[in-house]
Amino acid sequence: KLLSTKQMLLEAQKNRYAVPAFNIHNMETLQVVVNTAAKMHSPLIIAATPSTVAYADPAYLVAMAQAAAQQNNIPIALHLDHHEDPSVIEKDIDTGFSSCMIDASKLPFEENIAKVKTVVAYAHKYDVTVEAELGKLVGKEDDIEVADTDAIYTDPDDAVEFIKQTNIDSLAVAIGTAHGLYKGKPHLDFDRLQALRKQIDIPLVLHGASDVPDDMVQKTIELGITKVNIATDLKIPFSAAVKDFFQNNPTASDPRKYMTPGKEAMQKIVEHKINVCKSANRY
Ligand code: 13P
Ligand code: ZN
Ligand code: NA
Repeated sequence: KLLSTKQMLLEAQKNRYAVPAFNIHNMETLQVVVNTAAKMHSPLIIAATPSTVAYADPAYLVAMAQAAAQQNNIPIALHLDHHEDPSVIEKDIDTGFSSCMIDASKLPFEENIAKVKTVVAYAHKYDVTVEAELGKLVGKEDDIEVADTDAIYTDPDDAVEFIKQTNIDSLAVAIGTAHGLYKGKPHLDFDRLQALRKQIDIPLVLHGASDVPDDMVQKTIELGITKVNIATDLKIPFSAAVKDFFQNNPTASDPRKYMTPGKEAMQKIVEHKINVCKSANRY
């Protein structure tokens, strides 16, 4: 059975590790994150952005994730990442998604709260967990692009009020990470994270974890991050390996052959990220 993120994030919070949320796009990438997490006994959040859900079809994703949950003895959640439309979220919850993020971070504070509340009211009826974001991450994720000049870091007092009013299950914080790759080294506001953790008791989520040095990710986990979102760092080695395969085998046409090096390359980085999250051997 697919689980919400409630229990797995509380466990992580208690034991000071993070649950990795890997963005997948198709059967192959879903298989890689599931098989690797199962092999390493790590809890797993399978994340899909709106365009992934549209590309792969919600019912196909749910069916694959359910098969994964049935066949493996680890907690697995199927999560709607960066969804902006409550009606789409409701429809996908009906299809079987077990967790969601309503991203209304672009809206003014009160409007963000109002939108998140409608999603919480629906999701909690079905034991589906809700993540929301306060502040604004820069970079490009899916079709959502935010310019560097529009970055807003999460204010701890606002966050307390936001959580009180919305009753969300976890909060995505903006502390200097960005979606995609960085120009140079990221600058993370660890003091702000510490202040947030001090005032907030629900699990905190780090977006944009690709291209953040491992020691910095681990420091955020030590300071209270319990869910780490990773997309770009998986896509690059997968596609690089497939490109490489075609370079060496220009006449190849069997997807089972040319996808396999991509899956193998992705598996290595998934293993590495699970180790960074310290989520192995928890189940
Ligand atoms: P990265 O692509 O930087 O890993 O960001 C992923 C993310 O935040 C998905 O929500
Ligand atoms: Zn994100
Ligand atoms: Na990133």
